[in-house]
Amino acid sequence: IVDAVCALLSSTQDVAPRDYTGKTVLITAGPTREPLDPVRYLSNRSSGKMGYALAEAALARGAQVTLVSGPVSLAPIPGVEMIPVQTTQDLYQTLMTQSIKFHIVIQAAAPADYRAETVSPQKIKKQGDAPLVLRLVQNPDVAAAVGAQKQPGQILVGFAAETENVLSHAEQKLEKKNLDMIIVNDVTLPGAGFDVDTNIATFITRNASQSFPLQTKRHLADAILDAILQLEK
Ligand code: CTP
Repeated sequence: IVDAVCALLSSTQDVAPRDYTGKTVLITAGPTREPLDPVRYLSNRSSGKMGYALAEAALARGAQVTLVSGPVSLAPIPGVEMIPVQTTQDLYQTLMTQSIKFHIVIQAAAPADYRAETVSPQKIKKQGDAPLVLRLVQNPDVAAAVGAQKQPGQILVGFAAETENVLSHAEQKLEKKNLDMIIVNDVTLPGAGFDVDTNIATFITRNASQSFPLQTKRHLADAILDAILQLEK
């Protein structure tokens, strides 16, 4: 209730351009969790902050927003339709049925690329001093599957968290996943990437790239939404 009242009264809401009115935006956020047994899972350091900032910004600019979120410690955003998911396979199923319905799809989630080949129905017990060997199998590439069913006029945006050869890796992902734009972060830089409120990013499209210095994820969210409107022209 407090969040909803603040959103109504906030100056951001008053001054935000309503340039997303009439647009439907699907955003993915957060990590996935891949179970190993009833008490353990594999996951990653994604906090969901970038995806939630995008959802807030798109809502403030008049969009109809759906947020497909992995498990995060952020509060749901009043006015945004929330679809919770746990595993990459859940995310895949959700996007396969939902993504075609949206004008714009922004995939800020960090889905786990691998899952346990078999999930133990019982808690895995230590076997003496022997090492534990886990066999992992690949999860689907959700963004590539969304790219394969891209609708005419639809805009697809992805993210890439990289630690080396940042721009060339991101350009390869833009192609492979049939994206219109990819937002790349070098997660080794202080203030960029996981579990912080700021980010440093380069936006790469088919014919241009633009770098953005350290700023809050909320500011970067508006810059991403501005760049998407340019793509639509
Ligand atoms: N992504 C996805 N499905 C996956 C992995 C990633 O949809 N199984 C999406 C992310 O949401 C992001 C983009 O693909 O928009 C890039 O994610 P990233 O983890 O950087 O790339 P990967 O394709 O997993 O490549 P790698 O881990 O080999 O760098």
